[in-house]
Amino acid sequence: MLQLRTAGYIALDRLRSQGEFPPKWNGIGELEAVVDRFMSRFLEKRLEASRELGPGFHLYELLDLMIRSRDTEHMDEPSTDGEQKAAMVRALDRMNGLTMVYHHQTRLLEPLLAELSQQRDGPVRVLELASGSGGLAFALAEHARKRGMRLEITASDIVPESVEAGRAAAAERGVAVEFRVVNAFDLEGVDRNSADLVLVSQSLHHFTPGQLALMIAGAGNIGASAFVGLDGHRSMLLLAGVPIVASLQGIAEFTGDGFTSARKFYSDLELDIIAEIATGRRSHQVECSWPMSMLTVSTAP
Ligand SMILES: C[S@@+](CC[C@H](N)C(=O)[O-])C[C@H]1O[C@@H](n2cnc3c(N)ncnc32)[C@H](O)[C@@H]1O
Repeated sequence: MLQLRTAGYIALDRLRSQGEFPPKWNGIGELEAVVDRFMSRFLEKRLEASRELGPGFHLYELLDLMIRSRDTEHMDEPSTDGEQKAAMVRALDRMNGLTMVYHHQTRLLEPLLAELSQQRDGPVRVLELASGSGGLAFALAEHARKRGMRLEITASDIVPESVEAGRAAAAERGVAVEFRVVNAFDLEGVDRNSADLVLVSQSLHHFTPGQLALMIAGAGNIGASAFVGLDGHRSMLLLAGVPIVASLQGIAEFTGDGFTSARKFYSDLELDIIAEIATGRRSHQVECSWPMSMLTVSTAP
């Protein structure tokens, strides 16, 4: 219901035929602003197209506009201290375990990991950005161990307390996952040719379209072959479902974040647009494997 595909494709076709899509950018310094500007233009055009399509389409568009939010989640607020942030990602980790999210994500990533491992002599190097507690990194490491697949996994986040907790958990479990502080926007400190796959899970909505484009372009710049973004599928069902499941953790701010997040999930077409502007080509795909959307971008030259 909140994917708004018909009006979205009409709007995008118009913008493409008018030469406005994909917008050109010169140098990484321009990318963020170009993508954010284009996304506002696209949403304006989608509203226009939905109005032309009739009340059935227009009403859903108005509903989407009402739901859409730019609020920052508590877990990203500068006023929330690092320990509280780490506690919130631990709550998310428990929620992911309860809803079997890691199992689902591992299954979704398996074909790409198998393909990458065929292309390499050594282990496939995975860099997860915004990894929070590192739950997915641990699940991937366990999956690789069971399948005899060679993975070298680095989990990273901007919150040092979450990184430290992840490092301690890796040591306690005896799992070879490295944890480090990395800002997903600039990948500062990440060596070129140190990752084959750059992965972002359940965090796409924490970033603006321009910031997501920076991450995709950044993955290409460090020499990764692929970028994968996994997140909740923009839908009415998750708008209700995410906060309800989050509330089981008994942390009011975390429940609030669940609602904010579901309001911010990207539609599949928005993810498609961001990837096309970031790469300047159509070397990506967006698919829905309920309740997730998965964006896979080939970032190889
Ligand atoms: C919703 S949590 C997702 C955590 C984890 N991927 C998961 O699925 O449990 C969002 C994460 O994004 C991290 N984050 C926010 N801004 C970031 C940035 N600029 N660079 C790296 N991580 C960031 C937060 O610290 C938080 O851990």
